Amino acid sequence: MKTAPIEFKPLSETDLPLLADWLSRAHLQKWWREDEITIERIREKYLPRIFGEDDARPFLVYLDYSPVGYIQYYHAWINQDWWPDKPEKGVLGIDQFIGDKNNLDKGIGSRFISEFVQRLFDDPEVTEIRVDPRPDNVRAIRCYEKVGFEKVNQINTPDGLAIMMVLNRKTF
Ligand SMILES: CC(C)(COP(=O)(O)OP(=O)(O)OC[C@H]1O[C@@H](n2cnc3c(N)ncnc32)[C@H](O)[C@@H]1OP(=O)(O)O)[C@@H](O)C(=O)NCCC(=O)NCCS
Repeated sequence: MKTAPIEFKPLSETDLPLLADWLSRAHLQKWWREDEITIERIREKYLPRIFGEDDARPFLVYLDYSPVGYIQYYHAWINQDWWPDKPEKGVLGIDQFIGDKNNLDKGIGSRFISEFVQRLFDDPEVTEIRVDPRPDNVRAIRCYEKVGFEKVNQINTPDGLAIMMVLNRKTF
């Protein structure tokens, strides 16, 4: 059987109503922190990312030609307050979610994250990719472990406690 294709399309301004709709859903409010979910606030936060004025690079994830989620990467060494070990140049971080709760736990997240990190490692300068799930986000932690991320330790971030998980180019 043919596998449904995954695509990553740079987020665009016309995607923001969909993003706001997803972010207002209960399964995301628990795990994806937004101060306020109005279209104005979402524009204010995500337009700079779309226009490259923010370090986060945002993408919509498509599964079988339909939008299924969101993923972004950022340069971990730029926001050094976040990580206690002051990551070196070449270390990226990623954040992601699935928009519809009916799509959770079907292996979709681990599949698109695997494809996304593979593309990030296509850049020879990228040495390591990190995620920082909350300690009680067992679904996300399990998903990241399936991709190959390893738990390093518990860290205290500006958003609260998180588990630092790392995927190293050498072991991926
Ligand atoms: C995190 C996320 C992207 C993962 O995508 P996903 O498609 O749901 O993940 P997968 O199906 O690939 O893997 C989830 C795993 O967690 C397991 N799992 C789910 N709930 C669990 C629980 N309460 N305890 C233990 N394992 C659990 C699933 O069984 C599955 O493991 P398995 O394949 O070995 O059975 C998605 O769940 C999501 O968007 N969550 C809400 C937002 C979020 O938490 N974002 C991440 C912030 S760090």
